[in-house]
Amino acid sequence: MDSKPTADNQSPSWATFLAGIGIGFVVAVTLGLSVALFASLGAEASPPAMADDPALLVSQGEAAATAYGCAACHSVDGTPGIGPSWLAVAGSDRPLADGTSVVADTDYLVESILDPSAQIVADFDDAMPKGLGDVLSAEDLDAVVAYIESLGG
Ligand code: HEC
Repeated sequence: MDSKPTADNQSPSWATFLAGIGIGFVVAVTLGLSVALFASLGAEASPPAMADDPALLVSQGEAAATAYGCAACHSVDGTPGIGPSWLAVAGSDRPLADGTSVVADTDYLVESILDPSAQIVADFDDAMPKGLGDVLSAEDLDAVVAYIESLGG
């Protein structure tokens, strides 16, 4: 069989053509998979969905109260410890050491955590750890406040 130069010249270009199709296929499949994977990850791990779910936020707050050591001083069953129990605090009138009182709304709870010396609960010492704002993430702060509010009266 005579091999014609033209046939020899064509075979690499066929190979190139086929390789091109192969690479194109692989790229298309990989892109498709990445898009699908990305979409499913986004659907599963979307933080806004978590923050929008009050029950999840409360259980995250309960975990944070243990993780950050709050539970060592704050019970949730009404028993006073080094700090007041969190039971029925949210929304109630808090008697303060200076003789005044304040309604324990969200702002009060946040301030009590970030600036604990600003208002001292009557009959308790100024014993809250300072600088919790540098330790608690904004999300954990939200969560622990939601947890305290879930224990409100
Ligand atoms: C070493 C003990 C201690 C730890 C740990 C502690 N606290 Fe306190 N906490 C206190 C004391 C004592 C008070 C009352 C004095 C005051 O008002 O600062 C208080 C008051 C509070 C109040 C106001 C409650 C009320 O009855 O009006 C909140 C809210 C609070 N703490 C949240 C937290 C959170 C959240 C954490 C963890 C991130 C925490 N505390 C960790 C001792 C502690």
